[in-house]
Amino acid sequence: MENANILTPSPNVQVGPATQHVGIEHTATVDRDSRETIGSIRVHDPRIRCTDVHVYYSGDCAINNVSLDIGKNEVIALIGPSGCGKSTFLRCLNRMNDTIVNCRVTGEILMDGNDINGKNIDVVPLRAQVGMVFQKPNPFPKSIWENIAFGPRIHGLAQDKSELDDIVESSLRKAGLWNEVKDRLDQPGTSLSGGQQQRLCIARTIAVGPEVILMDEPCSALDPIATARIEDLIDELREQYAICIVTHSMQQAGRVSQRMAYFHLGDLIEVGDTEEVFTRPKHQLTEDYITGRFG
Ligand SMILES: Nc1ncnc2c1ncn2[C@@H]1O[C@H](COP(=O)(O)OP(=O)(O)OP(=O)(O)O)[C@@H](O)[C@H]1O
Ligand SMILES: [Mg+2]
Repeated sequence: MENANILTPSPNVQVGPATQHVGIEHTATVDRDSRETIGSIRVHDPRIRCTDVHVYYSGDCAINNVSLDIGKNEVIALIGPSGCGKSTFLRCLNRMNDTIVNCRVTGEILMDGNDINGKNIDVVPLRAQVGMVFQKPNPFPKSIWENIAFGPRIHGLAQDKSELDDIVESSLRKAGLWNEVKDRLDQPGTSLSGGQQQRLCIARTIAVGPEVILMDEPCSALDPIATARIEDLIDELREQYAICIVTHSMQQAGRVSQRMAYFHLGDLIEVGDTEEVFTRPKHQLTEDYITGRFG
């Protein structure tokens, strides 16, 4: 992975938010009070383009005027302190906020030139196109095979059982799970380990042919070995999909992402290449967060 060495801690340094960037130079030039987004919010080849997005919960603003592109074949990490709006913003990208009473989204979110919040947009195919993997693995209470086949069947992606079998196999292969489950496809998805269940959920997302995969802290319930497998997988999936991942782990953001977006109290503070943001943050709030002084 290209960024794997950015966050390698020195020997004997306890890795944690407060210590992992002890070597960072003081580079911030933008004052703490500024709320203009710093850095490149746009990319050459966006898969999703957000402009002036606001999200309100019963009138309280949780996302304030955020503009950001999600590029093709990139992993972009959303970081920031708890409650800053990372999950809220992520849910804008496949209209999952529609499911929350009193949640209102304004602004423009374009995919293929269409605003996904437009009245003519059907959220069922949208959520296949922009799939989501959650913090806690949530397999259906069905067999491993059914977990994968369910989506393609309801989306009419297969003519018969043998086509479904093919989708099940290829999705499990892409999620790096096939060899571990190929002899037990009829067993419940919930019989797998936590890390396997999360890969099953990723396979389920892949099975309906997404273009973008949203991940909200996908490794926070996993041990380091299962986490490493998911991170390797994210790196492979980038070849085919745009991936937007929320993480609280600076090390994970450094390992898996090429771009990073730092949120603070609903504002998008800074966006840039991951290595650049880690080593030369421009905004004082970003520097405070990645050096562990805040959050
Ligand atoms: N369903 C909801 N109803 C009302 N307010 C909400 C709801 N979900 C989130 N909020 C509020 O919106 C703000 C942003 O929350 P959000 O969950 O997006 O933050 P986050 O950055 O994902 O936090 P964390 O890192 O803890 O997951 C918070 O003030 C939160 O209290
Ligand atoms: Mg969250």
